[in-house]
Amino acid sequence: MMSLCFAVCAFLILAPCTAAPRDAAGGAFIRNKLLLISFDGFRWDYDRDVDTPNLDKMAQEGVKARYVTPAFLTITSPTHFTLLTGRYIENHGVIHNMWFNTSTQEKKQYYSTQFVDSYWDNGSLPIWITAQRQGLKVGSLHFPGTAATYRGETVKVKEVEPQFYDYSNETDWRWNIDKVIGEWFHDQDLDFVSLYFGEPDKTGHKYGPDSPERQKMVQQVDRTVGYMRERIHHFGLSDQLNMIITADHGMTTVLRGGLVEEIILSKIPGFNFKDITFHLVDYGPSGMLLPKEGQLEKVYQALKGAHPHLHVYKKEEMPAHLHYSRHPRLLPIILFADPGYVINGFLPLQFHKGEHGFDNQVMDMKPFFRAVGPDFRKDLEVEPFETVHVYALMCHILGIKPEVHDGHLNSTKNMLISKESTGETNNPQKMSLYQVVIGLTTLTAFLALVFAVTATYHVSKRKASRSYKSKHAAVEDHRDTRF
Ligand SMILES: *[C@@H]1O[C@H](CO)[C@@H](O)[C@H](O)[C@H]1NC(C)=O
Ligand SMILES: *[C@@H]1O[C@H](CO)[C@@H](O)[C@H](O)[C@H]1NC(C)=O
Ligand SMILES: *[C@@H]1O[C@H](CO)[C@@H](O)[C@H](O)[C@H]1NC(C)=O
Ligand SMILES: *[C@@H]1O[C@H](CO)[C@@H](O)[C@H](O)[C@H]1NC(C)=O
Ligand SMILES: [Zn+2]
Repeated sequence: MMSLCFAVCAFLILAPCTAAPRDAAGGAFIRNKLLLISFDGFRWDYDRDVDTPNLDKMAQEGVKARYVTPAFLTITSPTHFTLLTGRYIENHGVIHNMWFNTSTQEKKQYYSTQFVDSYWDNGSLPIWITAQRQGLKVGSLHFPGTAATYRGETVKVKEVEPQFYDYSNETDWRWNIDKVIGEWFHDQDLDFVSLYFGEPDKTGHKYGPDSPERQKMVQQVDRTVGYMRERIHHFGLSDQLNMIITADHGMTTVLRGGLVEEIILSKIPGFNFKDITFHLVDYGPSGMLLPKEGQLEKVYQALKGAHPHLHVYKKEEMPAHLHYSRHPRLLPIILFADPGYVINGFLPLQFHKGEHGFDNQVMDMKPFFRAVGPDFRKDLEVEPFETVHVYALMCHILGIKPEVHDGHLNSTKNMLISKESTGETNNPQKMSLYQVVIGLTTLTAFLALVFAVTATYHVSKRKASRSYKSKHAAVEDHRDTRF
């Protein structure tokens, strides 16, 4: 009789506790949404010679980095994939905008390369897939890498641009924003979306980074940021949606018009394309060469020091800070030029006024970085950091367990409003009262269970068995919840 009473009491204590962890987990970690936006080629200082009221307002209400340092090679697909994976380019394997095959000589341009799954899926999972595997709802619009399949899985909600897409049309930009904010975040309740705009890169290449055309395009970007934030507000998402705006690289002016001695490989004494099996040149300031069998040393010696603004490295001797030497896709000789110069094969055939692809230490290669939303501090300017760290930040905000990566939350966590949560910031000294309460609740529940089991055992075998089963399940629940 006494035992039965204890069993009932224990059940009464346990019952509310059984439901607690789920509520508790929700209370301890509130998952806000995250929108990652890239404006291709938006250099860190592009807001200095243009009025950008919307970007300024966003900086007041959020976080701004003085600049960020992209991965090398500072071109679109490789650096975007570093944002998505937290890995340096030599580790994620998307080493160039172009896919190529050195035995067939086949090359694919940026757009076609988007559809070569094996090129993107080289062992590093982008955050989309990781988030989906952990139960989050994910979308991506036009972001490099969106079209590919990773370990058999694609981004569930996605839009890939058509082949001849006009990346500059402001009307289309607004449609895309309406889709992402209105349909994806609001109607479909997605947790994470990446969104890509092809400007001001295109204008920067065509007219140069100092041109009035580039300034005008930065105003278009600013209007777009204003529109985006207005839409977020309109759909009542301001309190749950974090937004990170950054870019893949910067832009610098190409020197020409007889001002400088161009780098033209075929004109370099002792260098002969006949000694080369495969080459990737005429692509801005960088290049890669695969010399014929036994010709590596000859090619290397001919090129090394041949032009004062041309850097020539054997792949394994690349400067360590570039993290661009280990991957098997990299060819044995890697070339890159100083700011202002591009690498030509036979003739100067490159006519862009602006270029990127230079050393990531060059200030003109640095992108901007802004963030705003419920998890970010306000009116804070932070010191520069490498974009390889953005991945850890995003995983932390989304509350997902990251894959192996090359970055660290260390570099960015000071921009977050400190809140107790699971993950890398969890520090025993900072255990909140809340966590203590949850801990005690669990302990109480466990003790109650032990008591209940002991007590009910004496009532009847059948009853005890039923009681144990349900309460054992309750303990399992507790154990699965991370504090
Ligand atoms: C390049 O082409 C050759 C010959 O068709 C093929 O064997 C090889 O697998 C290809 N390599 C890549 C990276 O596609
Ligand atoms: C990555 O690509 C390299 C070269 O194309 C290939 O040898 C390697 O097997 C790939 N690794 C994975 C995990 O896909
Ligand atoms: C921009 O796109 C809209 C809608 O697709 C189209 O109607 C308009 O003509 C385009 N504007 C330009 C300048 O191409
Ligand atoms: C994190 O930051 C601290 C202090 O800035 C530094 O000492 C530590 O090595 C960093 N940890 C990692 C893993 O980068
Ligand atoms: Zn780019």
